[in-house]
Amino acid sequence: MKFFADTADIDDIKELADTGLLDGVTTNPSLIKKSGRDFIEVTKEICAITDGPVSAEVVSTDHEGMMREAEVLRKIADNVAIKVPLTIDGLKTCKALTSDGTMVNVTLCFSANQALLAAKAGASFISPFVGRHDDVGYPGIELIGDIRLIYDNYDFPTEILVASVRNPIHIHDSAKLGADVMTAPPSVIKAMFNHPLTDKGLAAFIKDWEDTGQKIG
Ligand code: E4P
Repeated sequence: MKFFADTADIDDIKELADTGLLDGVTTNPSLIKKSGRDFIEVTKEICAITDGPVSAEVVSTDHEGMMREAEVLRKIADNVAIKVPLTIDGLKTCKALTSDGTMVNVTLCFSANQALLAAKAGASFISPFVGRHDDVGYPGIELIGDIRLIYDNYDFPTEILVASVRNPIHIHDSAKLGADVMTAPPSVIKAMFNHPLTDKGLAAFIKDWEDTGQKIG
Protein backbone atom coordinates (compact mmCIF):
# COMPACT_ATOMS: atom_id res chain seq x y z
CA MET A 1 0.00 0.00 0.00
CA LYS A 2 1.36 3.41 -0.94
CA PHE A 3 1.32 6.18 1.68
CA PHE A 4 0.56 9.75 0.62
CA ALA A 5 0.59 12.72 3.03
CA ASP A 6 -2.60 14.77 2.90
CA THR A 7 -1.10 18.19 3.60
CA ALA A 8 0.61 21.24 2.12
CA ASP A 9 2.82 21.73 5.18
CA ILE A 10 6.42 21.55 3.98
CA ASP A 11 7.95 20.69 7.38
CA ASP A 12 5.53 17.80 7.89
CA ILE A 13 6.19 16.49 4.38
CA LYS A 14 9.98 16.67 4.87
CA GLU A 15 9.72 14.83 8.19
CA LEU A 16 7.72 12.01 6.62
CA ALA A 17 9.93 11.88 3.53
CA ASP A 18 12.94 11.39 5.83
CA THR A 19 11.41 8.13 7.10
CA GLY A 20 11.61 6.72 3.57
CA LEU A 21 7.95 5.70 3.83
CA LEU A 22 6.37 8.54 1.85
CA ASP A 23 5.13 7.73 -1.67
CA GLY A 24 3.39 10.98 -2.58
CA VAL A 25 1.35 13.97 -1.42
CA THR A 26 -2.21 15.18 -1.89
CA THR A 27 -3.38 18.76 -1.52
CA ASN A 28 -6.72 20.47 -1.97
CA PRO A 29 -7.82 24.13 -1.86
CA SER A 30 -8.60 23.90 1.87
CA LEU A 31 -5.11 22.54 2.64
CA ILE A 32 -3.53 25.30 0.53
CA LYS A 33 -5.55 27.87 2.51
CA LYS A 34 -4.39 26.26 5.77
CA SER A 35 -0.73 26.44 4.66
CA GLY A 36 -1.03 30.19 4.01
CA ARG A 37 1.31 29.67 1.03
CA ASP A 38 1.12 30.56 -2.67
CA PHE A 39 -0.37 27.53 -4.46
CA ILE A 40 2.15 27.28 -7.30
CA GLU A 41 5.18 27.95 -5.09
CA VAL A 42 4.27 25.45 -2.39
CA THR A 43 3.36 22.79 -4.98
CA LYS A 44 6.76 23.25 -6.63
CA GLU A 45 8.47 22.79 -3.25
CA ILE A 46 6.47 19.66 -2.49
CA CYS A 47 7.30 18.18 -5.91
CA ALA A 48 11.00 18.66 -5.15
CA ILE A 49 10.73 16.75 -1.85
CA THR A 50 9.04 13.62 -3.21
CA ASP A 51 9.41 11.81 -6.53
CA GLY A 52 5.92 10.41 -6.09
CA PRO A 53 2.67 11.91 -7.38
CA VAL A 54 1.69 15.29 -5.93
CA SER A 55 -1.99 16.10 -6.41
CA ALA A 56 -2.82 19.70 -7.29
CA GLU A 57 -6.51 20.51 -7.62
CA VAL A 58 -8.20 22.64 -10.27
CA VAL A 59 -10.79 25.14 -9.05
CA SER A 60 -12.75 25.85 -12.23
CA THR A 61 -15.97 23.90 -12.55
CA ASP A 62 -16.21 23.89 -16.37
CA HIS A 63 -14.14 21.70 -18.71
CA GLU A 64 -12.42 24.55 -20.55
CA GLY A 65 -11.44 26.26 -17.30
CA MET A 66 -10.15 23.00 -15.82
CA MET A 67 -8.06 22.36 -18.94
CA ARG A 68 -6.61 25.88 -18.72
CA GLU A 69 -5.69 25.43 -15.07
CA ALA A 70 -4.33 21.91 -15.65
CA GLU A 71 -2.02 23.36 -18.31
CA VAL A 72 -0.51 25.68 -15.69
CA LEU A 73 -0.35 23.03 -12.96
CA ARG A 74 1.20 20.26 -15.03
CA LYS A 75 4.09 22.57 -15.96
CA ILE A 76 5.11 22.77 -12.28
CA ALA A 77 6.83 19.37 -12.34
CA ASP A 78 6.63 15.95 -13.98
CA ASN A 79 5.19 14.37 -10.82
CA VAL A 80 2.12 16.60 -10.61
CA ALA A 81 -1.20 14.72 -10.70
CA ILE A 82 -4.08 16.98 -11.71
CA LYS A 83 -6.96 16.65 -9.29
CA VAL A 84 -10.44 17.08 -10.76
CA PRO A 85 -13.87 16.76 -9.12
CA LEU A 86 -16.18 13.89 -9.91
CA THR A 87 -18.53 15.81 -12.21
CA ILE A 88 -19.28 15.48 -15.91
CA ASP A 89 -16.85 18.31 -16.68
CA GLY A 90 -14.30 16.82 -14.29
CA LEU A 91 -14.41 13.43 -16.02
CA LYS A 92 -14.28 15.03 -19.48
CA THR A 93 -11.12 16.76 -18.29
CA CYS A 94 -9.82 13.51 -16.83
CA LYS A 95 -10.29 11.71 -20.14
CA ALA A 96 -8.53 14.49 -22.09
CA LEU A 97 -5.59 14.72 -19.69
CA THR A 98 -4.96 11.00 -19.23
CA SER A 99 -5.18 10.42 -23.01
CA ASP A 100 -2.35 12.93 -23.17
CA GLY A 101 -0.26 11.03 -20.58
CA THR A 102 -0.97 13.29 -17.58
CA MET A 103 -1.72 11.70 -14.18
CA VAL A 104 -5.21 12.51 -12.90
CA ASN A 105 -6.68 12.06 -9.42
CA VAL A 106 -10.49 12.17 -9.43
CA THR A 107 -11.65 13.56 -6.11
CA LEU A 108 -14.87 13.91 -4.11
CA CYS A 109 -15.99 10.33 -4.83
CA PHE A 110 -18.83 9.14 -2.62
CA SER A 111 -20.23 6.11 -4.49
CA ALA A 112 -19.01 2.99 -6.27
CA ASN A 113 -20.84 4.05 -9.44
CA GLN A 114 -18.92 7.34 -9.42
CA ALA A 115 -15.71 5.31 -9.10
CA LEU A 116 -16.78 3.18 -12.08
CA LEU A 117 -17.26 6.33 -14.16
CA ALA A 118 -13.83 7.64 -13.14
CA ALA A 119 -12.17 4.36 -14.14
CA LYS A 120 -13.91 4.49 -17.53
CA ALA A 121 -12.59 8.05 -17.92
CA GLY A 122 -9.06 6.66 -17.46
CA ALA A 123 -8.38 8.12 -14.00
CA SER A 124 -4.96 7.30 -12.56
CA PHE A 125 -6.41 7.57 -9.04
CA ILE A 126 -9.92 7.59 -7.60
CA SER A 127 -10.31 9.29 -4.22
CA PRO A 128 -13.23 7.91 -2.20
CA PHE A 129 -13.78 10.05 0.91
CA VAL A 130 -14.13 7.69 3.86
CA GLY A 131 -14.22 10.12 6.81
CA ARG A 132 -16.80 12.48 5.32
CA HIS A 133 -19.05 9.46 4.78
CA ASP A 134 -18.63 8.45 8.42
CA ASP A 135 -19.52 12.03 9.40
CA VAL A 136 -23.00 11.65 7.89
CA GLY A 137 -23.63 8.21 9.38
CA TYR A 138 -22.63 5.92 6.47
CA PRO A 139 -19.77 3.46 7.07
CA GLY A 140 -17.34 5.01 4.57
CA ILE A 141 -15.02 2.02 4.55
CA GLU A 142 -17.69 -0.11 2.81
CA LEU A 143 -17.14 1.99 -0.28
CA ILE A 144 -13.54 0.80 -0.51
CA GLY A 145 -14.53 -2.89 -0.65
CA ASP A 146 -17.21 -2.16 -3.27
CA ILE A 147 -14.81 -0.24 -5.51
CA ARG A 148 -12.11 -2.91 -5.14
CA LEU A 149 -14.59 -5.60 -6.25
CA ILE A 150 -15.78 -3.61 -9.27
CA TYR A 151 -12.28 -2.61 -10.39
CA ASP A 152 -11.05 -6.20 -10.08
CA ASN A 153 -14.06 -7.51 -12.02
CA TYR A 154 -12.96 -5.50 -15.04
CA ASP A 155 -9.21 -5.19 -14.42
CA PHE A 156 -9.39 -1.40 -14.28
CA PRO A 157 -5.87 -0.04 -13.64
CA THR A 158 -7.19 3.02 -11.73
CA GLU A 159 -5.63 3.05 -8.26
CA ILE A 160 -7.93 3.31 -5.25
CA LEU A 161 -6.62 6.22 -3.18
CA VAL A 162 -8.45 6.23 0.15
CA ALA A 163 -9.03 9.86 1.15
CA SER A 164 -10.59 11.74 4.06
CA VAL A 165 -8.73 9.39 6.37
CA ARG A 166 -9.24 10.42 9.98
CA ASN A 167 -7.63 7.65 12.06
CA PRO A 168 -5.33 4.58 11.90
CA ILE A 169 -8.37 2.26 11.80
CA HIS A 170 -9.31 3.69 8.40
CA ILE A 171 -5.82 2.75 7.17
CA HIS A 172 -5.92 -0.74 8.70
CA ASP A 173 -9.34 -1.49 7.19
CA SER A 174 -8.38 -0.04 3.78
CA ALA A 175 -5.24 -2.17 3.67
CA LYS A 176 -7.27 -5.31 4.45
CA LEU A 177 -9.63 -4.46 1.61
CA GLY A 178 -6.74 -4.07 -0.85
CA ALA A 179 -6.76 -0.30 -1.42
CA ASP A 180 -3.72 0.73 -3.50
CA VAL A 181 -2.98 4.01 -1.75
CA MET A 182 -4.13 5.96 1.25
CA THR A 183 -3.65 9.63 1.96
CA ALA A 184 -3.75 10.82 5.54
CA PRO A 185 -2.83 13.84 7.64
CA PRO A 186 0.76 13.47 8.97
CA SER A 187 -0.56 13.15 12.55
CA VAL A 188 -2.52 10.04 11.58
CA ILE A 189 0.45 8.46 9.78
CA LYS A 190 2.66 9.14 12.83
CA ALA A 191 0.04 7.62 15.15
CA MET A 192 0.52 4.31 13.30
CA PHE A 193 3.99 3.95 14.86
CA ASN A 194 2.67 4.04 18.41
CA HIS A 195 2.00 1.10 20.69
CA PRO A 196 2.37 1.18 24.49
CA LEU A 197 3.80 -2.36 24.49
CA THR A 198 6.54 -1.25 22.07
CA ASP A 199 7.51 1.57 24.46
CA LYS A 200 7.33 -0.70 27.49
CA GLY A 201 9.29 -3.51 25.82
CA LEU A 202 11.99 -1.15 24.57
CA ALA A 203 12.45 0.42 28.00
CA ALA A 204 12.87 -3.09 29.52
CA PHE A 205 15.41 -4.16 26.87
CA ILE A 206 17.47 -0.98 27.34
CA LYS A 207 17.43 -1.40 31.12
CA ASP A 208 18.51 -5.09 30.95
CA TRP A 209 21.21 -4.22 28.44
CA GLU A 210 22.61 -1.52 30.72
CA ASP A 211 22.68 -4.10 33.55
CA THR A 212 24.97 -6.35 31.46
CA GLY A 213 27.56 -3.53 31.34
CA GLN A 214 28.34 -4.47 27.71
CA LYS A 215 28.75 -2.23 24.64
CA ILE A 216 28.30 -2.94 20.92
CA GLY A 217 31.39 -1.92 18.96
C1 E4P B 1 -7.49 14.40 -0.32
O1 E4P B 1 -7.25 14.09 -1.46
C2 E4P B 1 -8.80 14.90 0.14
O2 E4P B 1 -9.04 16.17 -0.38
C3 E4P B 1 -8.80 14.90 1.64
O3 E4P B 1 -8.37 13.62 2.09
C4 E4P B 1 -10.12 15.29 2.27
O4 E4P B 1 -10.02 15.10 3.65
P1 E4P B 1 -11.06 15.75 4.69
O5 E4P B 1 -12.38 15.10 4.48
O6 E4P B 1 -10.48 15.42 6.04
O7 E4P B 1 -11.08 17.22 4.41
